[in-house]
Amino acid sequence: MSERSASRTALMVAAYRARASERPGALISDPWARALAGEEGEAIATAVDRMMPDREIWVAVRTAWLDEQVRRFTAGGYRQVVVLGAGFDTRAARLAAAGVRFFEVDHPASQQEKLARLAQLAGYPRDAATHVECDFEHHDFLERLVDRGFDPASPALITWEGVTMYLAEAAIRHTLARVAFGCEPHTVLLFDHLMKKIVDPSREHETERAARKLVQDLGERFVFGTNDPLPMLYEEGFRWVQSASFDELCLNLTGSYDRTRQFRFQRVVAAARKRPNLPALF
Ligand SMILES: C[S@@+](CC[C@H](N)C(=O)[O-])C[C@H]1O[C@@H](n2cnc3c(N)ncnc32)[C@H](O)[C@@H]1O
Repeated sequence: MSERSASRTALMVAAYRARASERPGALISDPWARALAGEEGEAIATAVDRMMPDREIWVAVRTAWLDEQVRRFTAGGYRQVVVLGAGFDTRAARLAAAGVRFFEVDHPASQQEKLARLAQLAGYPRDAATHVECDFEHHDFLERLVDRGFDPASPALITWEGVTMYLAEAAIRHTLARVAFGCEPHTVLLFDHLMKKIVDPSREHETERAARKLVQDLGERFVFGTNDPLPMLYEEGFRWVQSASFDELCLNLTGSYDRTRQFRFQRVVAAARKRPNLPALF
């Protein structure tokens, strides 16, 4: 993402969330996504469909899994939810719960655009989240959160959805270490990451090239991918880690597994310094 422009991939994700919410038997429900994505988001998604026809179910599965975890952890006593790289995410409005505080952290350009769009949206509870501007490449997200009222001594659920692939490894490691050592140790970080093959520019496979081209056309760039984040998580202080492939998530959430889907390039991870007192996530 350039220093000045808001994230276009975030608009694309909102458009897919809108479509997925409108399907019969929808996996997710985001009544705000259509208006937030607007015509621009839908136009991006329409163009992307030609390259990656499974994008909608992929977004739906990721969002559905994270929504489920937010509900589970807040029902289980977590009183702080932090959405890192929030884009046009609306969990703070959709999953609000008594006594639970939501924080949305994002690049200033993206957050300002989101707030401008929310200001046009009648009925959206704009106070649902505390908004915190942060560029993960340059700022300490935790300092900024604490400045806005986040309590590092209480456990939090932190989501980092669709963001790590756009960051340099140093920025990812810094963020991981701040979660592991700066937050209460049962704080759980949930994130997704790409596999190496998608990010590697020398890989000529059609799907991998298409994925890279897709984000480049939107002015962004895949930077980080890993086939095994465990060593990095361990080195940055995490001692409880679980992960699953998108294939597994899709099978568990939809009851179907379609091998033609382009899911085999991404995983989701849950990590904490100390095991949370809740049943396994997968
Ligand atoms: C693909 S969007 C995902 C947005 C949202 N999490 C979702 O799933 O709808 C990527 C997000 O990462 C954020 N991002 C990318 N680079 C960033 C950086 N250096 N600092 C802060 N946020 C960044 C963008 O602003 C954008 O909101």
